[in-house]
Amino acid sequence: MQIERELYSGKAKSVYATNDPDRLVMRFRDDTSAFDGRKKEQLANKGATNNRTNAFIMQHLERAGIPTHFERLLSDSDSLVKRLEMIPVECVVRNRTAGSICRRLGVAENMELDPPTFEFFLKNDELHDPMVNEYHIRAFGWASDDEIAIMKRLAFEVNDVLKQLFLDAGIVLVDYKLEFGRFQGRIVLGDEFTADGCRLWDVDTGRKLDKDRFRQDLGGVVEAYQEVANRLGVTSG
Ligand code: TMP
Ligand code: ASP
Repeated sequence: MQIERELYSGKAKSVYATNDPDRLVMRFRDDTSAFDGRKKEQLANKGATNNRTNAFIMQHLERAGIPTHFERLLSDSDSLVKRLEMIPVECVVRNRTAGSICRRLGVAENMELDPPTFEFFLKNDELHDPMVNEYHIRAFGWASDDEIAIMKRLAFEVNDVLKQLFLDAGIVLVDYKLEFGRFQGRIVLGDEFTADGCRLWDVDTGRKLDKDRFRQDLGGVVEAYQEVANRLGVTSG
């Protein structure tokens, strides 16, 4: 496998073509951004921590029967993934209230959501990722009815699997964002699952172990990400 030209550089990852037209390299950088790119910093070792954590979680999901784009770790910063045709929406599942749902609905933080909620957002920083619904997704041709149903089903399957995985590590999975794409006619989980795209709270103390530490200037961002990795049993070598 040979890494070829850079196809795309996002806020925290870059994507490279390879000599296999169906495979890409995803490079996790130390760049950290929030508020649609308005707050940016480099955090040493974040890329490597997220690359390993993502690999661990994606492999765990695969074993639980959830199709993902993950193939294998290549290096500290790089993973090999399937080349998906991405669906331009973000799927957010929430088990507890935090973040935008509190602002939008005027509800308190840390209320249990039973059953968990599901929301679609359009992936568009300039528009600040506006919330959209299934009618928008169909009318603009972003995904079909069947694909919408599969994304929702998989997003909740991920919840069942990861809620337990994190709980066993003494961590509450508060909410998370997933992105899906198409690969050989199938809907597959893409992008990443790391502390950059979810909220994780210590079960006993409520301490934040995710990107809210960066958003809210709480410090110890990478240390918290590494603590999550250690508690999950992610190995560093
Ligand atoms: P929110 O509370 O800002 O709507 O975010 C819910 C969860 O989804 C939170 O863990 C952050 C994650 N998320 C992203 O990582 N990127 C995004 O663009 C959005 C909309 C949410
Ligand atoms: N909306 C996410 C955040 O606030 C990612 C982004 O900034 O675009 O972290």
